Amino acid sequence: MRERSALCFLLLSGAAASPAQLHAPRWQRLPTGVVKPRGWLLQQAQLQADALTSHLPLFWPDVANTSWLGGDSDISGGLHESTPYWLNGAVPLAAQLEDKQLADVVQRYVEGCLDRQSSSGWLGPDTDPSDFWSRYPFLLALVQLHEALPSNSSLRARLVPAALGFFGEMERRLDGGVGLGSFSSWRAHDLIWTIHYFAGVVQKPPDAQKLLAFAERLHREAEDWSVWFNSSDFPRKAVEGSPTQVQHGVNNAMAVKRGAVWARQSGQWAQGAAESQLAWDMLSLYHGQPSGVFSADEFLAGKMPSRGTELCAVVESMWSLILTAQLSPDDQHATAALDSLELLAFNALPGSLAGDLWSHPYLQFANSYQALQGEKDHVWPNDGPDSAMYGLAPNYECCTANFHQGYAKFIAHLFFEDPVMMALVSPIWAPAAVTTEFVGGGAEVEIRTNYPFGQEVSYYVKSPLAFGLKIRIPAFLRESPESLQFLFMGMEQPLKIQDGFIFIWITASTESREVARFSWRAEPQVRVSPAPEQGASVFLGPLLMALDLKEDRECVKSYEFLAADWNTRGNSSWRWALPSSPRFGEVQWRQPGRIPVKHDATACPVVVNATLLKVPDNLWPSQHNAPGPLPELFGEAGEHQEERVLLAYACSAIRISAFPTSKQVLLVS
Ligand SMILES: *[C@@H]1O[C@H](CO)[C@@H](O)[C@H](O)[C@H]1NC(C)=O
Ligand SMILES: *[C@@H]1O[C@H](CO)[C@@H](O)[C@H](O)[C@H]1NC(C)=O
Ligand SMILES: *[C@@H]1O[C@H](CO)[C@@H](O)[C@H](O)[C@H]1NC(C)=O
Ligand SMILES: *[C@@H]1O[C@H](CO)[C@@H](O)[C@H](O)[C@H]1NC(C)=O
Ligand SMILES: *[C@@H]1O[C@H](CO)[C@@H](O)[C@H](O)[C@H]1NC(C)=O
Repeated sequence: MRERSALCFLLLSGAAASPAQLHAPRWQRLPTGVVKPRGWLLQQAQLQADALTSHLPLFWPDVANTSWLGGDSDISGGLHESTPYWLNGAVPLAAQLEDKQLADVVQRYVEGCLDRQSSSGWLGPDTDPSDFWSRYPFLLALVQLHEALPSNSSLRARLVPAALGFFGEMERRLDGGVGLGSFSSWRAHDLIWTIHYFAGVVQKPPDAQKLLAFAERLHREAEDWSVWFNSSDFPRKAVEGSPTQVQHGVNNAMAVKRGAVWARQSGQWAQGAAESQLAWDMLSLYHGQPSGVFSADEFLAGKMPSRGTELCAVVESMWSLILTAQLSPDDQHATAALDSLELLAFNALPGSLAGDLWSHPYLQFANSYQALQGEKDHVWPNDGPDSAMYGLAPNYECCTANFHQGYAKFIAHLFFEDPVMMALVSPIWAPAAVTTEFVGGGAEVEIRTNYPFGQEVSYYVKSPLAFGLKIRIPAFLRESPESLQFLFMGMEQPLKIQDGFIFIWITASTESREVARFSWRAEPQVRVSPAPEQGASVFLGPLLMALDLKEDRECVKSYEFLAADWNTRGNSSWRWALPSSPRFGEVQWRQPGRIPVKHDATACPVVVNATLLKVPDNLWPSQHNAPGPLPELFGEAGEHQEERVLLAYACSAIRISAFPTSKQVLLVS
């Protein structure tokens, strides 16, 4: 048992006389590395580890020659965030894969950074006394490394003093008049989350008190995002003119966690959950795209499906939603956050990565027909001409460094423990395995599935003690629970879904056996967007489907290893609409292969044909080299209809996923 939990208790039990305390969350995170990917998710994690996560230190200057280790790179904009961003994803990935080589590399980096810690406690290069921000992802990496390393590791023993040293130095700088500004203020709750972790593991209660007082001060002095998301200043459409940093996509994505994180210290769980949920709801309502993410081609960009979203905003939204779910006071709030997280994990995240995970675009789009280097006339107003191109570091390097946390943190949170209910929580279906810490006395639980690329999910369990298993049923199945077959210990059972979850009691067993099996048949579903700009989209379960443009990519620049920049063009017309009663062919489900989400209609794990309506070129002109606003179509009889291929959104780099509809569709839906 880890000291973490014991100390949470200690902090609480001393609460009467204490000025500050940490409240135990309803659901506990499992330490980094305890949840392991399986099946297609293991393939995907391994693919990522073998691609850029393990190769950046070998050739990419921001990591290979980082200023954190005395090199002359990782200094863009006066910040030093690349290596910390990379560590924030590489540390958990190495632990989940038990990849000794990658683990050795990340530990060597962390050791090197700690060796260079100044006697005052400052971590990393010291070029700007107020650049606290560049350290936040480094602290996030330290938390995960502290969880992952064995308790007798000598590196682990260095992590707590290093973190406390930095917090002390930061506080002295603030006392000395260095302001908490810019990113250090907007992103403060990532640091506060790490302070809470270290306050939970320090051995001496006075140290914990000091840390919590510091966290309180940061919370007070940092940007109050709860006002932003609840104000008439929050943009209801694409930001125009000279944007401000509170309208910045990644800042907003990070800010979603503020309420949830602070609830651990305020004890105001309901208020925290309401704040985080309001933040995500505002972003989704006014800027949400069908892939689950909100548009932010640097700044909040409204509902037009040709406007983009930065990859960093996807992974930061995921991390915020994970914490929003974990720190929620009830299942209702948790389910809302998890429904959103699931969409992001299966659509927006892989939809912004090449199938082989060696390249990504800075911006992804619901609708686009090309992704080229040096697009002079482009639809996004604030980013550079390479932003749509799939490449090593198109437009700006932050996402090259930051995307690593996407899958790693998703995997880490595929289970939570609820010690009070003696329950293991399974918040999202994906192939994974865990050995619990508390509930079931070290139960071994495995989810066997191809989900979301399949229609069956099984739980296998072996456990010394009985425990509860609490399973979230995905939103699309909650809408039609009658389509879901549920077997409990091999016997068909009615489902009792409450606030998104079912609860089953698992008896002790010395053998691993299937305790629960879910199966269903998913049919393509047309969902008309509440925003007329977005027409309608097709979903298959949680998967957004996209028109296959028969994309073809051409290498425009090679780097070392398999890293490259690519021009992607379609070889199929993109002007298609959904008729009022779309006809779909048989859904083709394939076992995900070595490249699970391949950009290829013959290898994509989920493909379905749809009969679509051809839109004449003059009705849907392009605008700035992107599909223009969706046309309004009237009537369709006698119009040209044809069978076209729809792929999982993630199997495409360019695509149409928000379709025009004829007026008749809007009337019947
Ligand atoms: C790192 O810096 C050294 C010294 O400036 C240089 O020779 C080397 O090519 C750089 N490596 C990378 C990957 O940028
Ligand atoms: C730590 O403990 C493990 C098992 O308890 C042992 O195999 C390992 O050698 C120890 N490592 C160190 C550095 O003492
Ligand atoms: C938003 O503001 C209203 C009016 O001031 C308040 O009642 C509500 O609680 C606020 N919402 C959140 C989530 O703080
Ligand atoms: C597809 O490629 C062929 C051969 O290069 C070309 O003739 C055709 O015009 C292209 N079609 C579209 C829709 O781009
Ligand atoms: C799907 O439609 C394409 C034409 O776009 C056709 O070539 C293909 O055979 C169809 N697939 C199935 C399974 O019907």
